[in-house]
This record gives sequence, C-alpha cells and structure tokens, in this order.
Amino acid sequence: MVSLALGIPGIRRDPAQLPPTVGRPDTPGLIDTFGRTARDLRISITEKCSLRCTYCMPEAGLPAIARENLLTATEIARLVAIAVRDLGVHDIRFTGGEPLMRADLAEIIRQSAAVAHLPGGGMASISMTTNAIGLDHRIHELVEAGLTRINISLDTVDRDHFARLTRRDRLPSVFAGIQAAKDAGLTPLKINAVLMRDTLAGAADLLQWCLANGVRLRFIEQMPLDADEAWARDNMVDAAELLAVLGTRFTLSQPHRDDPSAPAEEWTVDGGPATVGIIASVTRSFCEACDRTRVTAEGTVRSCLFGDDETDLRALLRNGSDDATIAKWWRAAQWGKQSGHGMDRADFVRPQRSMGAIGG
Ligand code: GTP
Ligand code: 5AD
Ligand code: SF4
Repeated sequence: MVSLALGIPGIRRDPAQLPPTVGRPDTPGLIDTFGRTARDLRISITEKCSLRCTYCMPEAGLPAIARENLLTATEIARLVAIAVRDLGVHDIRFTGGEPLMRADLAEIIRQSAAVAHLPGGGMASISMTTNAIGLDHRIHELVEAGLTRINISLDTVDRDHFARLTRRDRLPSVFAGIQAAKDAGLTPLKINAVLMRDTLAGAADLLQWCLANGVRLRFIEQMPLDADEAWARDNMVDAAELLAVLGTRFTLSQPHRDDPSAPAEEWTVDGGPATVGIIASVTRSFCEACDRTRVTAEGTVRSCLFGDDETDLRALLRNGSDDATIAKWWRAAQWGKQSGHGMDRADFVRPQRSMGAIGG
C-alpha cells in the first residue's frame, strides 16, 4: 500500500485508485462519494485552552501535544495556499482548543492571509472561533494580520454559572473580548452557546444580553464530543425544548436557513430585525449539505467531526512532497468522508477525539 510506503498512518485510500474524476485538473474540488464539496476549511492550531468547559474539556486539560508535532505557521499557510488555490476552499476558520493560546496566532493569520487569494479573484475569508479571553489585548494585531470575522463562545451571562461551567472565573475577560471585537468592527459577530440544562435556565437572559449588545446569538445542541463522556441522548437539551423556554419571553417566528450548508436555522425575534440561531446538530443534522474539511493541530485531515479516519498531511509537509502530492492525498481523504455523524444509529460509536482535540 502506498500509505505504508509513505509511512502515513490512517490512510485507507491510495489516490492512484480513486475514481478517475477525482484529482483531475478539471475537477479540482474536495468532493466526496455523497456528492458534497468541501469549501470550508477548519484548522485547529492548538489543543490548549484557557477554559475547561464541561461539555468539551477534561478538568486537567487535554494531553499536551509535543511542540514538534504541532504545525508551524509556515506549514499552516502552505496548507491554506493549497486549499484555496488548488482545492476550491473559500473559507478558512482557525479553531482549537483556543486559538488565542498560540503566541504566534497573528503570524499564522498573516502568512495565511498572504496566500488566501481565490483563483477567480478576491480573498478567502479568514475567521476564528474563540472564547475571547485576552482578545482585547490582541485584537488589533489580529485584524491587522488579516482576520476578517470572529465567533465567540459564551454560554451564560451569569458569573457564577460561567465559573461552574467553564471551571474558571473569567466572564469579565470574555465581556472585554466581545467589546473589543465589536469596537474593531468585526461583523457579523456571532456568539455560540452550547445547550446544557443550566444554559437552558439562563437562555432567555443570554438572548436579552445579546440583543442589547448587538451581537448574533446561536444556541448549539451538545454533541457527544465531551472528553468526560457524560453526554447522553436521553438527557440532552434539544432545540424544541429551547424554543419552548425562549417562547415564554420572546416571540420567535419565520425560521429560515440562508444557506443549506450553514448549520444554524435563524428565528426572527419579536418581529425583527434581530434573530436568534439554533444549530441543531443532533436532532436536525445538516450533514447531507456539509461543506467542511478539517485539519487537526497535528496536521491530519479529518473529513468529518465524527470520522476517526485521519490522513497525515504533516508527514507529507515534512518529507519534501510537492503541493500537487499534498492536494492529491487531501482529495483522497475527503473522498472517504462518511455520510454523517450517525448519532441516531444503534451502532453509533463516539469518536476517539473530543471536540477540543479535533477543533470546534
Ligand atoms: P459561521 O456561521 O460561518 O460563522 O460558521 P459556523 O457556525 O460553522 O462556526 P462555528 O465555529 O462558530 O461553529 C458553531 C458550532 O457549530 C460549533 O461550536 C459546533 O458545535 C458546531 N459545528 C461546527 N462545525 C460542525 C460540523 O462540521 N459538524 C457539526 N455537526 N457541527 C459543527
Ligand atoms: N457540542 C457542541 N459544541 C461544542 N463545542 C465544544 N464542545 C461541544 C460539544 N460537545 C463548541 C464550543 C465552541 C466551539 C469551538 O465548539 O462552544 O463554540
Ligand atoms: Fe459534516 Fe460530519 Fe459535522 Fe455532519 S457531523 S455536519 S458530516 S462534519
């Protein structure tokens, strides 16, 4: 097998055996066997985080990745260049762990932005999903480096609840980060809140706060990606339950999804123009329209959050492979993308990595 010859763990498919349409110059996209094309690249850049949210991280944090195993800024930018120039990607999202934990985040963004020119003109978007802790001190260098958009995780505006849920008393720092992102003009600014029993109790307050502060809130159904493995389908809070709770304080109407591959369904609040989004990943999966490809902090391609089959691009980046070879293996990885998360199947097995180790 070619994968063994290259010493690449996790590769099941030899690009030479792919259907003839894959990898031909006239079909440059990252397509899969279910007819989807990935245009949204999510790159995790660290496993470290300044919080320990119970739905994501273990109390002690994730096992540290050895420094030499993390992709460098230059390697990340090379993958961005290949993805945007050769593979049809038009959105780049940095995730973690917490991207702000990387001291060279601005350098990663700068080098990536420098090569993010779309073949047809214009630039790929360069965004990040962050908890915003310490963002106020770094926002200017990040925007100057080329950051175009930002999503911020915030599950509650109650300080005690925040401290319990994240195991850190850092809510004021998150507020400062949100204000800084607003002041820097990064729009739309989206807030992500993962639905837990406690979040549900404070959901209307959180929405009120977001409306008052002019930021777009999305609630997210919790997925079985918590390192503590406490998730249970029977006990999770779903979109229907959330809508009932929000309905006691707000009038929600006209759900719509602008883009079928966008995970959030948007509801108009009290006649608009404000909206609230719900990402019902579990009960109303958007897998069939999924347009994502992921790279982990260690440089493996993971075509689906729930697919443990990974392809090691870091080995290729470091063994002198040219861009065309890397693009070919990336296509091969995406070609094998599974149809969806399969959470409702009796034989569902949780992925080995938790959210923080994949990239949110
Ligand atoms: P934008 O709306 O363009 O900002 O992107 P987004 O909603 O994909 O970005 P974000 O990183 O904020 O993701 C929001 C949440 O959606 C995450 O916190 C995850 O819970 C969930 N999510 C992100 N990517 C995936 C995915 O590939 N599959 C599933 N099922 N859920 C995802
Ligand atoms: N289910 C859904 N979303 C999650 N996130 C982290 N863990 C989970 C989970 N188990 C979200 C965070 C953040 C993004 C990085 O991933 O809230 O918005
Ligand atoms: Fe895409 Fe997999 Fe997420 Fe479904 S679970 S939306 S297929 S990444």
